[in-house]
Amino acid sequence: MSEKQYTCPDFPHFIHGADYNPEQWMDYKGVWDADMELMREAHCNEMTVGIFSWAKLEPREGEYDFSFLDEIIDRIGKNGGKVILATPSGARPHWMADKYPEVLRVGADGVRAHFGGRHNHCFTSPVYREKVREINRRLAERYGNNPTVIAWHISNEYSGECHCPLCVQAFRDFLREKYHNDIAELNHAWWTTFWSHTYDSFDQIEPPGALTETGVHGLNLDWHRFVTHQTMDFIKNETAPLRELTPHLPVTTNMMYEFYDLDYHKLSEVIDFASWDCYPEWHNGDDAVIAQRAAFWHDLYRSLKRKPFLLMESTPSLVNWKPYNKPKRPGLDTLSSLQAVAHGSDSVQYFQWRKSRGSSEKFHGAVVGHDGTADTRVFRSVQRTGEVLEKIDEICGSITKARAAVIFDWENMWALDNSQGYSNEGKKYFETCYEYHRVFWERGIDCDIVSPHADLSDYRIVVAPMLYLTDPETIKNLTYYVSGGGTLLGTYMLGTVDETDLCWLGGIPATALKDVFGIEAEEIDTLYPSERQHAALGDKEYTLQDYCEVLRLHGATVLAKYTDGYYKDTPAVTTHGFGKGHAVYQACRDDGALKDELLSRLIRNTGVYSVVLADKPLPHGVTAHSRTDGEHTYVFVENYSDQDTVTVPLRGEMVDMLTGERVKECTLQPYSFGIFKSL
Ligand code: GAL
Ligand code: ZN
Repeated sequence: MSEKQYTCPDFPHFIHGADYNPEQWMDYKGVWDADMELMREAHCNEMTVGIFSWAKLEPREGEYDFSFLDEIIDRIGKNGGKVILATPSGARPHWMADKYPEVLRVGADGVRAHFGGRHNHCFTSPVYREKVREINRRLAERYGNNPTVIAWHISNEYSGECHCPLCVQAFRDFLREKYHNDIAELNHAWWTTFWSHTYDSFDQIEPPGALTETGVHGLNLDWHRFVTHQTMDFIKNETAPLRELTPHLPVTTNMMYEFYDLDYHKLSEVIDFASWDCYPEWHNGDDAVIAQRAAFWHDLYRSLKRKPFLLMESTPSLVNWKPYNKPKRPGLDTLSSLQAVAHGSDSVQYFQWRKSRGSSEKFHGAVVGHDGTADTRVFRSVQRTGEVLEKIDEICGSITKARAAVIFDWENMWALDNSQGYSNEGKKYFETCYEYHRVFWERGIDCDIVSPHADLSDYRIVVAPMLYLTDPETIKNLTYYVSGGGTLLGTYMLGTVDETDLCWLGGIPATALKDVFGIEAEEIDTLYPSERQHAALGDKEYTLQDYCEVLRLHGATVLAKYTDGYYKDTPAVTTHGFGKGHAVYQACRDDGALKDELLSRLIRNTGVYSVVLADKPLPHGVTAHSRTDGEHTYVFVENYSDQDTVTVPLRGEMVDMLTGERVKECTLQPYSFGIFKSL
């Protein structure tokens, strides 16, 4: 039975396209004609249009002119392409900022931005919300039933916060509701007796900022939550006319790499499928490391909706906004595009189709450069990617059934950064999550990245790195997971604070987690950056850095002991049977080798296996991933080494989808990939 799930049900094919800004070229005769021809040549079947078009679509208040969009959508359709249509709220026309300054954002310093840049709007402003609703309604009325349009791209990379009086008021209302209009409840949750910070009323509350308050952790955390809440509310406002007039068109918004400001687990509730903009800093160091970190985010975006996502933006060559802007080397261009597909993307899309002639993006990579021809290395690599996507089109819609997961949580990250203590030079939460994910990546094991509240029942192994903030729902979820037979790996700092950033009383990890893990953490030694400690597991010694927690045992078995420090001979890693499952606790941060050993034991014990034939890490820089439609398994093998040709055995005979041959193993040149289908 087919288990496919499509991002854009009206177009069940791989999307190969780009952000397209034809309005920048309206005075250049022949460019649009050339674009259509080049799109066909590039094997591009989609363009994302309208993202920053508001000034063209509504040149004066209430005066709409859709002629350029009419024509471009018509042309793309006649050219055999599809359109993902954007709402233009990411940047607004000058007249609006002039007439209604409230649409502009106010910074944490209380200063209102002038017109300029993008994404600098207030999320609360009733005027801005109304203007956005109105233009979106007109777009939906005009194009909602146009067969060329297959999805909505809402705004662009939502981000940032606004401190204007309207937003401050909305924040207070948010808190009033959350704390049942009871200021005493808020004061307790935020521990404001500290430094005489007690609030007398909700009207005294201001967002955290350099001129206000930053030492009240509950306030900081609730402000982050509010920003996510208000952004979601803004998205609901944006999508209201689209939901009403075009219920058949799915809605997405493009998200980002290592993005901090918004809780995407929550935000994903108001979109139909996830999409994101992936711009790793290739070739700055080991590409294996860079690829694995990008893989983490691909895995996260697939896990958000537990279905395929779109790679909404990527560069076909280079970007223009990093400290150094280096083109992708030959081979890595197509490989990095197919990486997204290996992890569940149903598209490869670029920023942008045609390189701007002026302004800040004139040196950003594009499919078509300033020479306007197809005769470039970059264009040819885009062509090649398009050809590959056409060959493997049957994979579109197939899903990933990971049996391993790493928990990553925005609230936890914010709380860790709040915490004054441990190392104040950075808690390394991203890096730590990446490190556990790496173990799966190097072994070709599919891995989801999930919220602590996610349904964990599909997973045999769950890793919860540095899960410092654990609310009662998380405690329940983890307890339920282990007692039902799951294997959970927790680490130092687990279960330290609750949902309002108050320390759990009665020892950590919090409440029931002590029984799950059979341990209690008594204190934590923060090491100086150059300091190293050690732990022994079996007859091997492992190097520790940054954190060593000292444990008391409550029933757990010791797997590894510290071999130095004042806690020498005390437990460094423990395991505990709980219900039908197992809870392993790693009390210390290691340099990578201990994680490898621990997780490979758990992988063996739980029968989680690689999608290729491997029971140890693949050669350096090599990884493998799988997708399935319920009948067939599709295996992607990727080689990020720029030097080595590698041979990887498959789990039996498969069809090489690029050559049509039956094979049992694959040989990959540097920067290349193979795609295989089960028989
Ligand atoms: C993205 C943005 C695009 C473009 C691109 C350049 O963050 O959404 O509009 O600016 O970066 O890399
Ligand atoms: Zn505002």
